[in-house]
Amino acid sequence: MSQLPKPNAGILDIAPYVGGKSKAAPGVKVVKLSSNESPLGPSPKALAAFTESAKYLHRYPDGNSQKLREAISQVHKLPVEQIICGAGSDELIQFLVSAYAGVGDEVLYPEHGFLMYKIYAQSRGATPVTAPEKNLTTDVDALLAAVTERTKIVFVANPNNPTGSYISSSEMARLQKGLPPHVILAIDGAYAEFPEHADYSDGHELVASTENTIMLRTFSKIYGLGGMRIGWAYAPANIIDVLNRVRGPFNVSGAAIETGAAAMLDTEFTAAAIAHNTKWLAWLSAELSALGLTAYPSAGNFLLVGFPSGKAKNASAFLMERGLIVREVANYGLPDCLRITIGLEEDNKAVVATLKDFLAS
Ligand SMILES: Cc1ncc(COP(=O)(O)O)c(C=O)c1O
Repeated sequence: MSQLPKPNAGILDIAPYVGGKSKAAPGVKVVKLSSNESPLGPSPKALAAFTESAKYLHRYPDGNSQKLREAISQVHKLPVEQIICGAGSDELIQFLVSAYAGVGDEVLYPEHGFLMYKIYAQSRGATPVTAPEKNLTTDVDALLAAVTERTKIVFVANPNNPTGSYISSSEMARLQKGLPPHVILAIDGAYAEFPEHADYSDGHELVASTENTIMLRTFSKIYGLGGMRIGWAYAPANIIDVLNRVRGPFNVSGAAIETGAAAMLDTEFTAAAIAHNTKWLAWLSAELSALGLTAYPSAGNFLLVGFPSGKAKNASAFLMERGLIVREVANYGLPDCLRITIGLEEDNKAVVATLKDFLAS
């Protein structure tokens, strides 16, 4: 019998998360469009706060991330005591799963849901369960039909990654209403700043009016701070209390608190980043459709692009050779698609020109 230390049940079933690639062939200028990062980078005010924070590297951070939570509270008009911060929203997903799901429990999410829901469920020995989508969009009826007495958390990214689709606030409310009260509805708003649709909401009203809904947000996308690792959540007091019990005492660094607070308060820069995305998302979508590719409707800062059967991988390699790194999404069950982050004007134009060459090759 093996003498090796044995991890807990479920751990060896985990397929480790593979992030977006960031390297191309030597000598080729790289444009990374594989991780939905903001092409504009962070606000200059956030950069200044980061530089200033270097003076205090020898100090432990404020364990409550008070300054950051106050900035979020001010901008989003939410009660500061119902906000919790994490080292990326990833960490908050992890806290949620560790606190509420264990062996024998189920964690439910739509078919093409963010891979970390599965990974964290498996890491707790819980069972990840998926519900089918309709037209690459979250299907509330399918989610409700998949709920069992073992379901502990339902994750819905809205808009969803990698599909880019979203469901309306009334659909989200219908989902919440259909769940037993002990099941948590986790609305993952990693891309919540981007949709401009009148029927969209980030879900904060549902958090305010129910006891089992949590909204997760990140600084990694619109704020251009993926490298800082900052996420936050707004939840009812009972859930905040639980998450604070599993949270490490200094989970968000001092630099992250300062940088995040400055980024949050620079609402003008955020608005400019949203406007950039709105313009170039529409442009890229129209141009790729004109090439005969399928640009699925997206409410995020990326496009899911469908290729003729069997061609997506070759297209990714073709783009990569020219320094344009996009995301292959076969591991999301979408082998004929690529996910392309909206870039700077020249990046978006390079993607279109290169895919035109690819299709002609
Ligand atoms: C839907 C969704 N949720 C959560 C995250 C995690 O973001 P972070 O941990 O950087 O805050 C991502 C990142 O890609 C995402 O796409």
